[in-house]
Amino acid sequence: MKILVVGGGGREHAIIMKLAESKLVDKLYCAPGNGGISKYAECFDVSATDIDGMVKLAKKLKVDMVVVAPDDPLVLGMVDAMRAEGFMTFGPTKDAAIIEGSKVFSKELMKKYNIPTAEYEVFTDSEEAIKYVKKQNSYPTVIKADGLALGKGVILAENEEDAVAAIHSMIDDKQFGESSSTIVIEEFLTGPEVSVLSFTDGKTIVPMISSMDHKRALDGDKGLNTGGMGTVSPNPYYTDDVAKECMEKIFLPTMNAMNKEGRTFEGCLYFGLMITPKGPKVIEYNCRFGDPETQVVLPMLEGDLCEIFKAIYEHKLSDVKIGWKSGSCACVVMASGGYPVKYEKGIEIEGLDEKGQVENAFVYHAGTKVSNDKFLTSGGRVLGVTCNAYTLQGALDKSYEAVSKISFKGAHFRKDIGQRALKAKTADPLDLEYKEDMENYIEENGVYLRQ
Ligand code: AMP
Ligand code: GLY
Repeated sequence: MKILVVGGGGREHAIIMKLAESKLVDKLYCAPGNGGISKYAECFDVSATDIDGMVKLAKKLKVDMVVVAPDDPLVLGMVDAMRAEGFMTFGPTKDAAIIEGSKVFSKELMKKYNIPTAEYEVFTDSEEAIKYVKKQNSYPTVIKADGLALGKGVILAENEEDAVAAIHSMIDDKQFGESSSTIVIEEFLTGPEVSVLSFTDGKTIVPMISSMDHKRALDGDKGLNTGGMGTVSPNPYYTDDVAKECMEKIFLPTMNAMNKEGRTFEGCLYFGLMITPKGPKVIEYNCRFGDPETQVVLPMLEGDLCEIFKAIYEHKLSDVKIGWKSGSCACVVMASGGYPVKYEKGIEIEGLDEKGQVENAFVYHAGTKVSNDKFLTSGGRVLGVTCNAYTLQGALDKSYEAVSKISFKGAHFRKDIGQRALKAKTADPLDLEYKEDMENYIEENGVYLRQ
């Protein structure tokens, strides 16, 4: 098969590396791709949100399958456009991608089908919203833009002043344009977070191995929120009991709810969960593979990713064998200096050649390009240095060893990826240390904007 993967980050690099292992795959293409991906797939300079341009490219290349990885093209309906031209696709249609595209939709879905999530109210009028937070008088409180906001649409407000400011900037000042003309105000939950990606064809849902993201920019969960500074898999808070409860109360009910709504979800459905003292609750759904979760989940997959994608398209997921390696996988993100706020691009990366790298480590490229045979930085998150090993400590040691061999001016990475996971022996929903950290964080930072 000839496959076109849409996107150009570390997640797409991980998808491509796994597809490349498949006996079914003859040729891989990627658009727009990046410097690292270009070594394994032919890349084309078409933007991931350019639906017409991407359809033209798929036709020109005569591909057999199109894999749409990022949220924006999915929410815009790229899968629908590809299907209309007869392409086999991986990814949800626009109707189903709304589960990520609209927080109001996802919250109402959960309410209607009794899927555990934070209590919430929806507002389009700032005065009404302000009246509500004043009446609730419970802080921190969580304010979210309804639509996609480049991952910046969530504000944790520590007090009334911050909440009022957030409401005004979202609804009245249209901070995120139409995406924030409707907002959700929800209850602040506490507990460790777990990411669970799943494969589903609408009839069967297969959770992948669990993972833990590290969203804040700095060590000790300090600094601004980012797209993710590192991940480990599996997540020790996701015990067998928690997994069972999630399957019964969250995963199956969500798949069934989408079917009942006439919005069958086919693709990767991502559950952002919080293990609260009252059990697991959904923080968010994503309609796609997570980034950098994919970089630690797919290396653990025992199975043929292309076969899985094809089976989902054919609604035969239950026929495919899917297993997971034992051990652990870790990914440390190396970011540009200044990320997630302001950063330079075009800086030369040293030490990236395959020689001299650590055995079993792999460097997924997130924001790089090749120029005169040199790798240059081209984004905020630059590399995802990944390794799997028998133990989490082993995976982390090797990932950090590989990180130490790579350098570029201004590079920054967290030194404590996996430390919380190493300390967590069992899922303790009353994990006091975690709660304390979270409270300290809010106290120190007040309102934060997800960057
Ligand atoms: P989201 O974009 O919905 O994943 O939110 C970004 C981050 O904000 C999450 O990963 C959580 O750390 C935090 N967050 C979102 N909703 C809540 C909530 N109801 N309670 C506490 N933290 C939250
Ligand atoms: N790592 C979080 C996400 O992909 O949304």
